[in-house]
Amino acid sequence: MHVALIMDGNGRWAAARGWPRLAGHREGAKAVRRIVEAAPGLGIATMTLYAFSSDNWGRPPREVAGLMRLFRAYLAGEAQRCVENGVRLRVIGRRDRLPEVLLRQMRAAEEATAGGTRLTLRIALDYSARDALMRAAALAEGDSREDFALALGRAMGEDEPAPDVDLLVRTGGEQRLSDFLLWECAYAELYFTPLAWPEFDPTALGRAVEWFQGRERRFGRLMSA
Ligand code: FPP
Repeated sequence: MHVALIMDGNGRWAAARGWPRLAGHREGAKAVRRIVEAAPGLGIATMTLYAFSSDNWGRPPREVAGLMRLFRAYLAGEAQRCVENGVRLRVIGRRDRLPEVLLRQMRAAEEATAGGTRLTLRIALDYSARDALMRAAALAEGDSREDFALALGRAMGEDEPAPDVDLLVRTGGEQRLSDFLLWECAYAELYFTPLAWPEFDPTALGRAVEWFQGRERRFGRLMSA
């Protein structure tokens, strides 16, 4: 099962406590650790996290710099744990605008975890689905959906087809896709929760998975008899 997560609500969660927004992002990083640890036990083989959208560059420079530091610290601190837990870490998105120190950490983490088979953890950084689709359109060879999915994977720096999403979860109460995995979510089940991302824990993820398992997926066809 491929689960995609839009991790929204860090800022509001912090503001409600009178804390700076970055404190919310730091708690958000702790939530990421808990969720990653729980994912394989819930039958999740691939998980894609929306960590930084291409439109997030428009946030105040202090917040952007703080997020970049947080991503770097996460990759530096978690790579070894990922290796031990069989997690293969991949970063998707544009690579030409991220700080060099972060890029180095990304490459090191991807290399160190390349052998992981329990969970593929994809972190979307400087990611825009529309931009990825436009790059894929320029790269695509052949005219089947499979050809295009491969071009889309390549447009995001992967050497494999972009995987379809089964379940998309968005925390923080909003109900929109915000330019995330637009092709891959063609038949995704959409789950929205008012919980802010720092409050989202393995129990909440388990509830979302349980809800997903109760869905009847028809992929545009009629129910089988
Ligand atoms: C959206 O909440 C969240 C982000 C733009 C950043 C997500 C980053 C993390 C969860 C930090 C750690 C991630 C990794 C992969 C280590 P928001 O700030 O828009 O919240 P708001 O809508 O309440 O303002």
